[in-house]
Amino acid sequence: MKRAVYPGSFDPMTYGHLDIIRRSAEMFDELIVAVLVNQQKNALFSVDERVKILQEATKDLPNVKVDFFSGLLINYAAEHGLHVAVRGLRAITDFEYELQLSQTNRMLSDGALDTIFLNTSLQYSYLSSSSVKEIASFGGDISQCVPDYVEARLREKFQSR
Ligand code: PNS
Repeated sequence: MKRAVYPGSFDPMTYGHLDIIRRSAEMFDELIVAVLVNQQKNALFSVDERVKILQEATKDLPNVKVDFFSGLLINYAAEHGLHVAVRGLRAITDFEYELQLSQTNRMLSDGALDTIFLNTSLQYSYLSSSSVKEIASFGGDISQCVPDYVEARLREKFQSR
């Protein structure tokens, strides 16, 4: 059985993340989307909220599971018998960081955890969770960036501030 983990902060999930999830779910028998419990407490959404959003977004994908982890990805992967991580590349600017992350994970895991990269579909190549949060914080239109239930949660967050 081919299994993979797609780790990330997902604060919040965007259509760019969903694109990577859908495409990698077709390549693997099981895909675990793993939300990082950020050590720095600067995430807008709690882990529980981020997990719920991902569960809603993937409810039609039976081979996708949503989980969370803290600490090193290689430890989570080893505990779950996972040897492949999936990451999205939007542009060349992502490459340096992603290469460093994947090489570090290979080194730390003695080669047990490899990373494969999917290039984000062009229509989402400009999207990031940070820009979505910034646009939402100023009341801008994010309907092309995130599903409506994420948009609603973002509006709630910024109205209550
Ligand atoms: O969505 P993001 O924030 O780009 O995802 C980054 C993530 C979660 C994949 C990365 O920060 C991560 O795996 N963090 C866990 C700690 C770890 O294993 N670091 C790798 C060695 S530097």
